[in-house]
Amino acid sequence: MEFGIDIEQIKPLIKGLIGRDLILLEAVDSTNRLAMELGDKGASHGTVVIADRQFKGRGRLSRTWVSPPLVNIYMSIILRPDIRLQDATVLTIMAGLACARAIRAVTGLQVEIKWPNDLIVLNKKIGGILTEIRSGGERMIFAVIGIGINVNACPEDFPPDVRLIATSIKNETAKEQPRAILIADILNDLDMWYDIFVTAGKKPLLDEWRRLTSTLGRAVMVSAGEGVYRGIAEDIDDEGMLILRLPSGRLKRISAGDLTTLR
Ligand code: BTN
Repeated sequence: MEFGIDIEQIKPLIKGLIGRDLILLEAVDSTNRLAMELGDKGASHGTVVIADRQFKGRGRLSRTWVSPPLVNIYMSIILRPDIRLQDATVLTIMAGLACARAIRAVTGLQVEIKWPNDLIVLNKKIGGILTEIRSGGERMIFAVIGIGINVNACPEDFPPDVRLIATSIKNETAKEQPRAILIADILNDLDMWYDIFVTAGKKPLLDEWRRLTSTLGRAVMVSAGEGVYRGIAEDIDDEGMLILRLPSGRLKRISAGDLTTLR
């Protein structure tokens, strides 16, 4: 059984700006909530908040993120890109890539990304990303990228309903994984993709996302705020919206929702 995360193990592995300022807590309500507060107080680009447990972890669509103590990764990253609000999804895409690539590299697990940002192994969720934004007019002031990864959790660490749809790295590989190594790998990969985005724009990120996703080309059902749609997931557009081909042949763009793969 792993003890608390050791920040001294992470620090020497950090290569770029993201993770230079690391805040590690034994417990917090939500690392995203705290990171938003720190962002409002001026915390710098690349500041990372990590906790060994969360009492009120936040998930997408106002859900709760079940956060058992000492086994998983709960971290939030403050980014200060100079971008328009409508480009914010690129940050979530970037985080999805970094997590999938780091988990693949460190553990060998073939993690895939399910639109919009679920990390999936064999149809079960191994992690998720929640991006929150502080804006001023049309521009972003800062973003907080919240990452939750089930690393060493056992099925019993989750309530029965979550157990049916979630898994962990340990569950899938039968091996305990040191969280510090994975954290450093994710932060370094994210830093690399952030630089690629700043210098070359969105295209390389979108291309890498397409390579790592399990969603495109599949028959899917998406429940979005305004309704439920079935169709073939054709692509994502420049803003990370899902392009769905409806049975009528018409294309429908969907910005957010819950996606189920049908076959
Ligand atoms: C999802 O619903 O898929 C997104 C889950 C995001 C959970 C992470 S855990 C660290 C960070 N702090 C939070 O309160 N939520 C995110």
